[in-house]
Amino acid sequence: MFYVTTAIDYTNGSPHIGHAYEKVMADVIARYHRLRGDEVFFLTGVDQHGQKVQQTAEKEGISPEEFVKRTTQKFSDLWEKLGVEYDGWAETVDERHKHCVRTILTELKDQGQLYKKAHAGSYSVRQEQFLQDRDRDEAGNFGPEWGEVVEIEEENWYFKLSDHTDWLKSFIENQPDLIIPAFRKSELLNALEKNSGIDLCISRPKERLRWGIEFPFDENYVTYVWFDALINYISFAGYKSLADSGLPDFKTIWSDRPVHIIGKDILIPAHGIYWLCMLRAMGFSESQMPRLLVHGWWNIRGEKMAKSTGNVVDPSALVDQFGVEAVRYYLVRDIVTGKDSDFDMDRLVMLFNTELANEVGNLCNRALNMSQRFTGGILHHGGPLTEDDLALQKSLANSLSEYRTAMDDFDLSKGLEALSRHIVHCNQYAERMKPWTLNKDPDQKDRVATILYHLAESLAHATVLISPILPAAAEKLAAQLNFPVLTTLKLADLHWGLLPDGHEIGLPLPIFPRIVSQDA
Ligand code: ME8
Ligand code: MG
Repeated sequence: MFYVTTAIDYTNGSPHIGHAYEKVMADVIARYHRLRGDEVFFLTGVDQHGQKVQQTAEKEGISPEEFVKRTTQKFSDLWEKLGVEYDGWAETVDERHKHCVRTILTELKDQGQLYKKAHAGSYSVRQEQFLQDRDRDEAGNFGPEWGEVVEIEEENWYFKLSDHTDWLKSFIENQPDLIIPAFRKSELLNALEKNSGIDLCISRPKERLRWGIEFPFDENYVTYVWFDALINYISFAGYKSLADSGLPDFKTIWSDRPVHIIGKDILIPAHGIYWLCMLRAMGFSESQMPRLLVHGWWNIRGEKMAKSTGNVVDPSALVDQFGVEAVRYYLVRDIVTGKDSDFDMDRLVMLFNTELANEVGNLCNRALNMSQRFTGGILHHGGPLTEDDLALQKSLANSLSEYRTAMDDFDLSKGLEALSRHIVHCNQYAERMKPWTLNKDPDQKDRVATILYHLAESLAHATVLISPILPAAAEKLAAQLNFPVLTTLKLADLHWGLLPDGHEIGLPLPIFPRIVSQDA
């Protein structure tokens, strides 16, 4: 099973373009793996507990339950609008999740992995954690990233993280594909060095935080939000679930190493240290450890998005303005997996207009229109192949293989570039072959049919390859080609000759209407 997850989004606010990117990226990867013929389970959802939620709800004068219900709806509405299709939906207030978290806490306690102790120290209200000396800046202070820092003393429950960090170090060192892209590995190893010998505080006293999962063996405490949230990856996959839970069978879902898609800010320490150690403490073997696909950030004019400066892009408004295809395409096309990118509306419009409206749209329009006019809507394999025809077939084969390699490596923009290259090749081929001129010569009927076949056949392949990224547009393309195989055809079935001799195609309808800029 190819099990892929995203981070679960905090429901203390509204979804922004960073959230949308991660979910679209996961959706594209899930759809691509289905196209490869893999069994796929795609889990996403929301992170609903914690101090920030409690505080924001208080400010709005409503209960945290009501508040998260409202904000959760904003996220799920957006995923529907963006065509993000998941198999499992994680909400941390779900009783089934709470059951799993409590079971794990009880088992870890029974195994001696948890202990209670008093600790006096500096506590970051914003980050909801005790700070250590390593968190101080060069001047010895706690920097502004920690928000308000208060001195508190309290008893809490701790997880023996330090029991597992030696193992984790050698595991990270010996695993070539644990962290994608690989350049993040050294950051994680450095962080681990600083973390050694430190255990993880996993409880919060109820006087301070009510909005969390109550400890099964100590009712005065709730679970630290990260310990709770990370468990979503297994709780909603059916781990330790009750028989009638309606959750999937855990062994089936977690049969191969899952892929967790996360942003670079939550690799260290949450996923790269806490989560891997938690899994090991629960008895997961090395061959069951997840792989971490770490993506970069969308910035705005070089700066971090921040609600406080109004520096956020609302993905829902973007879809209203430009359509779902333009937004999905831009989000995976204009960022290199693992790197940061600058969100730029002009580039969104430009990439849509050049690569989709002009290139794919033009190819579709030409292939179908001329086939209707010149060959009565019937495709024929036609006459002997010329060097140009063979070069076009070679270009397609190259694009296909580059696309596969890139998509297998989660390099979505590279996959799209490979596809785009072939579409450009096709349009140039049409311009050089000039079937519209040849058609005036009755002796060239076969030649015209051959050229049109090459265009339509390329379009059929492009339809399949673009389907993980733009599923709705691919369906429309397939309908126009009268090629309704998108749900059954697999990547391995792609070979020259998808459209049989004598195939009847449909009429071209605009799929990617050009976006006309407002100020034009
Ligand atoms: O971190 N560009 O939730 P979150 C790209 N609840 N990705 C971004 C981004 C940006 N500008 N801003 C945020 C949390 N993200 C936790 C996760 S997982 C068990 C719990 C990404 O709503 C971020 O990196 O702050 C993370 O992967 C996801 O959006 C959710 O962020
Ligand atoms: Mg965050």
